[in-house]
Amino acid sequence: MKYKSNLIALLLAGTFFSAAAQQPEVIVVNAAKSEGKVSPEMWGVFFEDINMGADGGIYAEMVKNRSFEFLKPLMGWSVKGKKIGEGDLLVQNRKGANLANPRYLRATIKGAAKGEAGISNEGFKGGMGVKKGLKYDFSLLYRQITPGITLHVELLDEENKVLASGSMKPIDASGEWKSQELSFTADATAAKAKMNIWFEGNGVLDMDMISLFPADTWKGRKKGMRRDMIQMLADMKPGFIRFPGGCIVEGIDLANRYQWKKTIGPIEERQLIMNRWNVEFNHRPSPDYFQTFGLGFFEYFQLAEDIGAEALPILNCGMACQFNTAEVVALDQLDPYIQDALDLIEFANGDADSEWGKVRVSMGHAEPFHMKYLGVGNENWGPQYIERAKAFQQAIKAKYPKMNLIFSSGTGPDNDEFRYLDKELRGMKADIIDEHYYRSPEWFLKNAARYDNYDRQGAKIFAGEYAAHIKGDATGSNRNIWEAALAEAAFMTGLERNAAVVNMASYAPLFANTEGWQWAPDLIWVDNMNIYGTPNYHVQKLFSTNKGTQVSPALADGKSLSGQDGLYVSAVVDSIKKEVIVKLVNTNTTERTKQVTFEGIKKLAAQGNLTTVKAALTEQNSMEKPSNITPVVSSLKLRGKNAVVKMPASSFVMLKVSYK
Ligand code: AHR
Repeated sequence: MKYKSNLIALLLAGTFFSAAAQQPEVIVVNAAKSEGKVSPEMWGVFFEDINMGADGGIYAEMVKNRSFEFLKPLMGWSVKGKKIGEGDLLVQNRKGANLANPRYLRATIKGAAKGEAGISNEGFKGGMGVKKGLKYDFSLLYRQITPGITLHVELLDEENKVLASGSMKPIDASGEWKSQELSFTADATAAKAKMNIWFEGNGVLDMDMISLFPADTWKGRKKGMRRDMIQMLADMKPGFIRFPGGCIVEGIDLANRYQWKKTIGPIEERQLIMNRWNVEFNHRPSPDYFQTFGLGFFEYFQLAEDIGAEALPILNCGMACQFNTAEVVALDQLDPYIQDALDLIEFANGDADSEWGKVRVSMGHAEPFHMKYLGVGNENWGPQYIERAKAFQQAIKAKYPKMNLIFSSGTGPDNDEFRYLDKELRGMKADIIDEHYYRSPEWFLKNAARYDNYDRQGAKIFAGEYAAHIKGDATGSNRNIWEAALAEAAFMTGLERNAAVVNMASYAPLFANTEGWQWAPDLIWVDNMNIYGTPNYHVQKLFSTNKGTQVSPALADGKSLSGQDGLYVSAVVDSIKKEVIVKLVNTNTTERTKQVTFEGIKKLAAQGNLTTVKAALTEQNSMEKPSNITPVVSSLKLRGKNAVVKMPASSFVMLKVSYK
């Protein structure tokens, strides 16, 4: 019986493949042979506050400019009502008393009824997304100079219909700064709502940190993160989360760099700075883009822990963005920057009695975060970088020899700058080299074998930022077409095949707001109410949720497939789940069929799962059609150790088979 079915399989295989006689017909996956371990951190995510990724993004704060610290102190706010006259609303500055958050708003109200004197906040890009039945938590810091004002807070839709409201009489009359909260539930939905605060009565009231959060944050944490966005990340099961960038690490100049110590502790003491993407692109001006740091390093570590990812912070190495000012700190003044790195490790991993470990504990995390990776600089280059990188390496390794340090290889994968850095970094025995490539789909296809000949003994590679950028006039989410995602999938088979040297990879950037982006393409698009994963997201997710534990050779005519006849293939075994997983990319505009033969497995299941993602190259997902391109799972019967896999035109196909 067995003999008969094998015979039929052979005959069938013969008919399938006679048409393409010159092409490899059989792909042999030898599951008993390991070509290297797949690092548990292989597929991760790159997070940066770009495209409204943090403020106006995962950080669920709905009030724009809550502390009046934007360049224009009343940006995002407007004054309302006939009983507000000249000088009744003043932005005051307590510099000296509160260096990080000096401004506040003083309201002097003289006998106003509700609706006669107030302020209104427009929310982030496009207004506030308000959902029917959802509770909202309003809060503020206040100081009553002359008690007597009651606040009426209301959320309104575009037609000024009230969606939710509540009133608050400040309780404390000591003249000290206090906080108070008020919650209300919306009885209707609006995508572009705003918030009014009416002042009723007589009195003088100082206000700061005027805030509104939805109650349905990620894990229900108060003043936490937008749940739908974090869920999309959690669903990817990323091996790491790189933060906080990206170029915001470097800053336009050193003063504008990211400084982690200013992002922890009470949020009202975190000093806001302008987001460098505010002014980066003339064609995408974002004058209201600032970093409040309500989402800071503690929250990033906590997020990493929540989603089971390794935290991978990147720190400034004493160099501002070399595309901007290219300001560097003098070498003899580099110590504070290096100290920041040492202190960060102590903050993340130190005991409760260490100086910085104590700070972590005081923020509510007694256990260490067990940080293993640290990036030194983002896209920095030149001898100036190497000098600084060496100083960081020496100091950090002296104190924390096991910390895996990641160094930049510049902005591109194949220029002089890259070759210089690659040589220098290998010379200084860098643990991990961070390579970035924003290139055309063609580049990704041509470079799928990039790592086949990389030195296995030297530095490991972190493909820290990459995305296929299509040519032409497309802007925004239109750039996330299937052609780009398919090219990335093809390239990722090369990363996977070379997991022995490529230990980490992340697409970039991660999030973008449809009304507030600066850079595209991006992995996940959101607006105030909705979210969708691009085709690129599905590709990333399929790799990261099927990463396996070791690489198996997948050979056709004794060679791995990285572009022959438009096909790209990689295979992994998951020795924990007992699965063998083959990923195949067909970049042809016609179907291909291959026989996958599994060697080195005694008891293979009789049936596998076939996941197929296919589309025309120009197709994409959108808010209107979020699932236009989505993986479809079917089952596939094996014939003994053989599976006949049909790869539709322009498709990414994944075959997963269990074994005992
Ligand atoms: O991902 C967008 C930007 O691209 C990053 O901030 C930077 O590192 C790179 O140039």
